[in-house]
Amino acid sequence: MSSTNSSAERKKITTHTYRMKKKRGEIITMLTAYDYGTALAVDRTGIDSILVGDSLGMVVLGYENTLPVTMNDMIHHCKAVARGAKYALLIGDMPFMSYQASVEDAVRNAGRFLQEAGMDAVKLEGGRERKEAIEQIVGAGIPVMGHIGLTPQSVHQLGGFRAQGKSAKAGTRLLEDALILQEAGCFSIVLETIPAQLAKLVSEKLDIPTIGIGAGVDCDGQVLVTHDLLGLFDRFTPKFVKTYAHLHQEMVEAISTYKAEVEGKEFPSDEHSFDMAKEDLDALVKAFE
Ligand code: KIV
Repeated sequence: MSSTNSSAERKKITTHTYRMKKKRGEIITMLTAYDYGTALAVDRTGIDSILVGDSLGMVVLGYENTLPVTMNDMIHHCKAVARGAKYALLIGDMPFMSYQASVEDAVRNAGRFLQEAGMDAVKLEGGRERKEAIEQIVGAGIPVMGHIGLTPQSVHQLGGFRAQGKSAKAGTRLLEDALILQEAGCFSIVLETIPAQLAKLVSEKLDIPTIGIGAGVDCDGQVLVTHDLLGLFDRFTPKFVKTYAHLHQEMVEAISTYKAEVEGKEFPSDEHSFDMAKEDLDALVKAFE
């Protein structure tokens, strides 16, 4: 779909669209958004799905990792995205400790994403250990996207943001996890930072679509953090990110120009100011004499 497609010919993307795209061999596109304006821009391009990722903790809220992000943070940002996007499938990312402590927590918190925040589905991290939670959430009528490989909420357990599934043993376990998540009812699975060959194999073995990030070209779809793609987050850039613009640098330049023009009284010029009729001005001055 081109960036100029009119809304008249567009349909809301659903989990059914995901299934059909995999069946037809069509690539699924996904990006993150955390606010109204970005959601509007992403949705206008015809991107299939928007993930309100807990990556917002790092790229919007300035935390070191995603662990401090709360349900309230997620609901707040999901609501803004839902106001901006009409067509993309909207997926809310379940934050750390919103689904790990009990299945009941998992179902209740997943429900909030649909009931309060306008999302169409939720995503949560983990393999076989999430089987029961996923089954119960799906049983409540809530579509679930899985997420395996590098799962940032387990950064301390993984010993850092490092590639996963690199040995035959780790790759076998990851493939088993993918099959368990499919069996549990996930409509799709994110594969993060794993060897491209492993991602290809997993994608071939599964009936549901895989969405890759740092997982090579043979996944059924791709996702990136929009702030990375736009060059808005300059703290670090993972190897798998392609930077399509340098908006942080452009922001710094635009703001510096504004500052210089304000200090030099170049801004605001007449073009950006309002006039008063001469007789009103005369009357005003007279009133204060
Ligand atoms: O939080 C996020 O943005 C994610 C994507 C990187 C898949 O989980």
